[in-house]
Amino acid sequence: MILQLNKIEKNFENIQVLKDFSLVVSKNEIVCIIGPSGCGKSTLLNMISGYIYPCSGELENKSDNISYVFQEDRLLPWRNVYENIQIVNKKQSKEHILSLIEKVGLKGFEEHYPLELSGGMRQRCAIARAFNYDANLLLMDEPFKSLDYNLRFNMIDQLLELWHTKKCAVVFVTHEIDEALLLGDRIVVLSSRPTKPIKEIDIDKPKGKRSLKDKELIEIRNKIIECIIN
Ligand SMILES: Nc1ncnc2c1ncn2[C@@H]1O[C@H](COP(=O)(O)OP(=O)(O)OP(=O)(O)O)[C@@H](O)[C@H]1O
Ligand SMILES: [Mg+2]
Repeated sequence: MILQLNKIEKNFENIQVLKDFSLVVSKNEIVCIIGPSGCGKSTLLNMISGYIYPCSGELENKSDNISYVFQEDRLLPWRNVYENIQIVNKKQSKEHILSLIEKVGLKGFEEHYPLELSGGMRQRCAIARAFNYDANLLLMDEPFKSLDYNLRFNMIDQLLELWHTKKCAVVFVTHEIDEALLLGDRIVVLSSRPTKPIKEIDIDKPKGKRSLKDKELIEIRNKIIECIIN
């Protein structure tokens, strides 16, 4: 286990966000979180990262280093693509940073500043930055949201490649069921506020060997849709 949340409660003034929220994430496991807009997914990641605190309950985080792809790209506007990626790991080799830039499809844009990039390009730069930091817990908040379908699947492959080369635990928030089906060892579906997990589904088929046409995945997709559509 790398992360354990036990009966967490989180309120903002008069808004009750998380209630009786428990979740365990194992070392090297990819857990995908799906839940309604405004239910508290970003709040959950912010709490795991230590940026905000729960009101009550226990949160045990055994990771040494956390890498976080925020819901917004949060790039430094005065740094170019290369520098935004380099900044989190100044010892990283130039070759490695350039290979990350190529992997996220930004080759040729190394010297461009965030204002000169599209929303999806900025998001990919933020993903490369997260990949450049050596972490054993990776938090991702709708990281592929502004990407077209091809790029989205390409990013899924890149994330799986990264995960295969240097294993880490990943908590991956998404509204896209297909992303969760391809990436997750486990999919956790959340209720609306006050929020807690209402369904947890393990996916046995190895990541990277799945197709969205697999019978098992189609059945899981149907179960999730049943759960989230009311
Ligand atoms: N710093 C804050 N102060 C007050 N309320 C907040 C704060 N952060 C979040 N909230 C409230 O907490 C609730 C959950 O917000 P959060 O951003 O975690 O939702 P989310 O599940 O990530 O939604 P989305 O899918 O739209 O990104 C919302 O009602 C939001 O208004
Ligand atoms: Mg959010």
